[in-house]
Amino acid sequence: MKLKNNLIKINLLHTYFFCLIIFQGIAQTPIPDNPAENLIINIQGRNTFSLDGKWRIIIDPMEVGYLDYRLKPNAPANSFAANAKPQNMSDRIEYDFDKSPLVNVPGDWNSQLKELEYYEGSVWYKRSFQYTKDADKRQFIYFGGVNYEANVYLNGKKLGDHIGGFTPFNFEVTDLLEDGENHLVLRVNNTRKREAVPTVNFDWWNYGGITRSVSLVALPKSFVKQYSINLKNGTLNQIEGWVQIEGASEKQKIAIEIPEAGINEKVSTDEKGYAQFSFKAKLDLWSPANPKLYEVSIKTPSETLTDKIGFRDISVDGYDILLNKKPVFLKGICIHEEAPYRFGRAFSRDEAQILLGWAKELGCNFVRLAHYPHNENMIRVADEMGIMVWAENPVYWTILWDNPDTYKNAQNQLTEVITRDRNRASVIMWSMANETPLSDSRLTFISNLAKYSKKTDPTRLVTAALEIHVPEDKPNTVMLEDPLAEYLDVYGCNEYFGWYVGTPEKADTMRWEMKYTKPLIISEFGGGALQGYFGNKKQVWTEDFQNDVYQHNIVMFNKIPFLRGTTPWLLKDFKSPKRLLPGIQDGYNRKGLISETGVKKKAFYTMKKWYDSK
Ligand code: GCU
Repeated sequence: MKLKNNLIKINLLHTYFFCLIIFQGIAQTPIPDNPAENLIINIQGRNTFSLDGKWRIIIDPMEVGYLDYRLKPNAPANSFAANAKPQNMSDRIEYDFDKSPLVNVPGDWNSQLKELEYYEGSVWYKRSFQYTKDADKRQFIYFGGVNYEANVYLNGKKLGDHIGGFTPFNFEVTDLLEDGENHLVLRVNNTRKREAVPTVNFDWWNYGGITRSVSLVALPKSFVKQYSINLKNGTLNQIEGWVQIEGASEKQKIAIEIPEAGINEKVSTDEKGYAQFSFKAKLDLWSPANPKLYEVSIKTPSETLTDKIGFRDISVDGYDILLNKKPVFLKGICIHEEAPYRFGRAFSRDEAQILLGWAKELGCNFVRLAHYPHNENMIRVADEMGIMVWAENPVYWTILWDNPDTYKNAQNQLTEVITRDRNRASVIMWSMANETPLSDSRLTFISNLAKYSKKTDPTRLVTAALEIHVPEDKPNTVMLEDPLAEYLDVYGCNEYFGWYVGTPEKADTMRWEMKYTKPLIISEFGGGALQGYFGNKKQVWTEDFQNDVYQHNIVMFNKIPFLRGTTPWLLKDFKSPKRLLPGIQDGYNRKGLISETGVKKKAFYTMKKWYDSK
């Protein structure tokens, strides 16, 4: 039976990859100009109607719903966006959403339908909903995240496109909503593309679909779209920030209120609805030991928007990372956005609490959310639990460095996650990239992103997970000399002594040198183990071997004077099509300290012991 299933799977794969090859030349959706400009933040603080739940889908590997037989995009009226129904007995319509399968939103499609486990291509989604006109409100549809490309339609009219699988976006629908029944239709395509971000090669499952929540958001005619309320860089008692109101036609008097801190700051916006402010405040600072969140309200003539904000200062000084001016060692762990206990993308608050709860059990005060922006629940729960966050843009491995649209795409995704999370105390650093091969074009691409990040958000550190270099003439020396580090506050690097490089004992012999006076975070290390497989510690894939890798690396870490943090790779075994060893990997990357069924491995306790000793 297993052989038959595998043969079916291989045939399905051939079919889908055949479609991929055909459609690589498809008319590309242009990269939108700065979609974050229109992003509405703090959705949980808004008046929303959830569109989560059962959606109809049409699996469309041949792009029947999108292209004519000459591969030209159909007009919406001739595409599945129309959600057409036969008007008479001779009408020939060759699709019907309401007789098509149902899936849950939020949720990747791979884990919901067996025939979609490996699917890469287009799936059309349709959700009907009732709406009653409200002339006093503006209406938006907000998506927490859709992987990878979304073309969105309401009642047959195109709303817009979004490119990037891990960041939110919204479209205004005030004038397109019908009083009564409406239908929201998306074409979602997760085909990997060479020019995309990430590109075609990555070590995680290519989960496709509407992977995060969808909401209808009702807002006043003039509303607070975005804001930034932080401690002024380098201070512990000065709040500064700005508010951007959408729909303002004249100056508006607004107030920033933090009742628990006795603050009621009145400011006036300019004619474009923008106001800046800076004022003294006596605050209980946010930290892992004391994850204090204040209720902060922004009062305008038409609304009061409330958020929960922690105030903290993060900076570097020589080799040190300072949290609220005090040196801190970042005891971390890498986490993929994969659900605990099941195959599939994580998206819920409960899943965030489980994953971050495991990190807490490990003794962590820090997590590296690899390799892309995670859902907002992870960041909100990290705020509440007092866990600092390394957030990462999916510039992963061999990106097309010379392609201007690829850079624009990467910058768009970085802007969207900064816009969404700029008021989250837990996020202390933005990572620009992961394991990118040295070249002039790569240095230009990522250093431009780093400069852009600093300009867009001067309150957070900038880092990247770089590769190490062991000079041939100094085989026991790790030289940290990536020129990109010039543009980073924190030097992140991945090393795999004992797994990809030599035996675990190799780590004992290594000396580390760095060309820069910056804090070092070892952003990946470790090795694989099948949970429950015990034996000789020289036997690869045993828990004993993985534990030995950890023990020797920890000995090495204790000898690195400028080490200020570690994030082992990684918390939990995760699905990857690259991991094929039968009986051991079976489609899972086994470097987790915890198995996909939630069982802790030996190395978990070794890492915990070291963290608890710090
Ligand atoms: C790399 C990469 C990870 C990958 C890991 C591994 O360092 O950054 O995404 O999963 O190695 O090989 O397991």
